[in-house]
Amino acid sequence: MTIAQANSNIALIKYWGKRDQNLRLPHNGSLSMTLDKLFTRTSVTYDAALDQDHVVLNDHPATPVQAARIGEFMDRIRSSYQIKEYAEIHSHNNFPTDAGLASSASGFAALALAAAYAAGLRLKPQELSVLARQGSGSACRSIEGGFIEWFKGTDPDGMDSYAVQLLDEKAWNICMLVVILEARAKDISSTEGMARTVQTSPLYPGWLDSIESDLTSMRLAIQKKDFTAVGTIMEHNCLKMHATALGAQPPVIYWHPKTLEIIQEIQYLREAGIECYFTIDAGPNIKILLQEQDTTMIKRNFLAIKGVQDIIVCQAGRGAFVCEE
Ligand code: PMV
Repeated sequence: MTIAQANSNIALIKYWGKRDQNLRLPHNGSLSMTLDKLFTRTSVTYDAALDQDHVVLNDHPATPVQAARIGEFMDRIRSSYQIKEYAEIHSHNNFPTDAGLASSASGFAALALAAAYAAGLRLKPQELSVLARQGSGSACRSIEGGFIEWFKGTDPDGMDSYAVQLLDEKAWNICMLVVILEARAKDISSTEGMARTVQTSPLYPGWLDSIESDLTSMRLAIQKKDFTAVGTIMEHNCLKMHATALGAQPPVIYWHPKTLEIIQEIQYLREAGIECYFTIDAGPNIKILLQEQDTTMIKRNFLAIKGVQDIIVCQAGRGAFVCEE
């Protein structure tokens, strides 16, 4: 048995749209911060007596949909690396699942590492990133810690579409508050939201046209540890992603009224001279980028807003690792 742990990551420049659904290859590159407090821990035990994978998620048997997605991912590993046995898989998130908090990123990164390691494979980060990407695109960014870039790549087989570290987790003590408004699973999955946006949103070409310049500016801002630039580019990129999704038919709307209330509060704080910036993924919850000295005050401020259920204070976290074998 191998137990592996991986942190979730939050995109500063978003991945939105697949050019290959099966291999989960993106239309655009993206850039993220691995978080230190939200993680998945997964055990994998291969067993010749099993006639299918047996999957337990958060102490409950996986639903047929979850089991099918994980089984398909395990089949890819088995066929790539000539593994014959099915596996007993137990996975646990220390945070709400499928609520736009990147549980699929930490989940598939932990599973890729545990499944490979348990089979005796000692894969390099790049190979693990390619593998994790095939479970959930953003999972390829959770193999490494700190600040990460995922190259979109151009090869049809996806071997050049993986993530690398730009800055390690110890290099910059910038913080991210994860503001949980609603812990239930989201209505529109990121896969469905992306597919609908790519197929129907007239705004999608504009999104793609603006990505390279966002990536270049963000890379530079991270290298310079320029908090204002990182926050400003991140917020603009997030709004563009949601704008292109809103332009889909039927529309892809992830925000709740409370989401907008928090956005306004962040703008008021900035006008008052307190610097903080937001980003939002495929769900209503908000993540706020801020400097360490402001965390206590800003956390208190947002916890006082009705409807805010919880706030988790994160910093940059480490990459995926094996805890036990
Ligand atoms: O990898 P997925 O299918 O969970 O998609 C992630 C999509 C976003 O969170 C909205 C953006 C991103 O880059 O993480």
